Amino acid sequence: MRVLSGVQPTGVLHLGNYLGAVKQFVKLQDQAECYFSIVNLHAITIPQNPQVLMEKTRDVAAIYLAVGLDPKKATIFVQSQVKAHAEAAWLLQCVARVGELNRMIQFKEKGKGSDSAVAGLYTYPVLQAADILLYQATHVPVGDDQKQHLELTRDIAERFNRDYGEVFTVPAILVNEVGARIMALDNPEVKMSKSAESEYNYITLLDDPKKIEKKLKRAVTDSENVIRYDPETKPGISNLLVIYSQLADLSVRELEKKYEGVGYGRFKKDLIEVTVDTLTPIRERYHEIRSSEELDRILREGAERASGVAEQTLCRMKEAMGIL
Ligand code: AMP
Ligand code: TRP
Repeated sequence: MRVLSGVQPTGVLHLGNYLGAVKQFVKLQDQAECYFSIVNLHAITIPQNPQVLMEKTRDVAAIYLAVGLDPKKATIFVQSQVKAHAEAAWLLQCVARVGELNRMIQFKEKGKGSDSAVAGLYTYPVLQAADILLYQATHVPVGDDQKQHLELTRDIAERFNRDYGEVFTVPAILVNEVGARIMALDNPEVKMSKSAESEYNYITLLDDPKKIEKKLKRAVTDSENVIRYDPETKPGISNLLVIYSQLADLSVRELEKKYEGVGYGRFKKDLIEVTVDTLTPIRERYHEIRSSEELDRILREGAERASGVAEQTLCRMKEAMGIL
């Protein structure tokens, strides 16, 4: 089993990133050969302040370590420091079809059909395919919103193998059964997102206890005051149940039982406690790691290891395509 996944350095990670993706990474590092990337080349498909982007790239690396990724077990690296990604992305742009890219939901959402969207936003999923296929990943752990990109990656791999010869492993998508789509606290109809206008949309992994309390107290529920999982009619409380369940490693069923006949006030109080207890050690480790010199060394070694694997696949791609 070989695993690859990536997170964009576009801001501090939130609970959705953690429960949908990164928490799985930590488990997988004990079961598989793992590669976890900070995908800064993807981040520049929307405007970034260069100085801030550099800082955020290191922020995500420190978060990876703070949640428990271990550089002795998993290879942690910055995408731009492994040159093969950009090169393979070009080769795969000559395999992917315009029709496929036209159908990508994320492009439609972020580009909004505007002529001034950068071309990289359009070809973004091809770079993602390169990220994955270069490592011959068998499994890719992601949140629900990445399913379509993963389907495209599989299609590109299959087409390449058919047209140029067997080079790529066709990867499987690993999506959590519960927690793959965490919704916004202030509007449970939309997913939790770093780019939201209001900070009451999300809880970041670095929020302090006061902030966590404030945000969860304000989280949208309904007037029924009954704790029951029903995403259709009770999206707010259902989302909080999912968050609680994933943080406490209890099933939603168990939680429904535990809170039978108990109102939202008590439920939220406990959820605040569970959230604070999970995030406090992460926040503390983050601050230690972020200011240490170790971080750059880990990223340098990660990039070296990743390059070794990626370059091999890149060579095979070029040979298959007749590229000198
Ligand atoms: P990104 O920050 O867009 O690079 O996302 C990093 C990972 O977090 C990807 O695997 C996403 O699918 C996942 N993710 C992002 N938002 C959510 C969410 N609201 N719920 C669950 N997973 C998410
Ligand atoms: N597109 C992903 C996101 O927005 C990030 C990403 C880039 C990724 N390359 C990847 C995820 C490779 C998994 C595997 O979340």
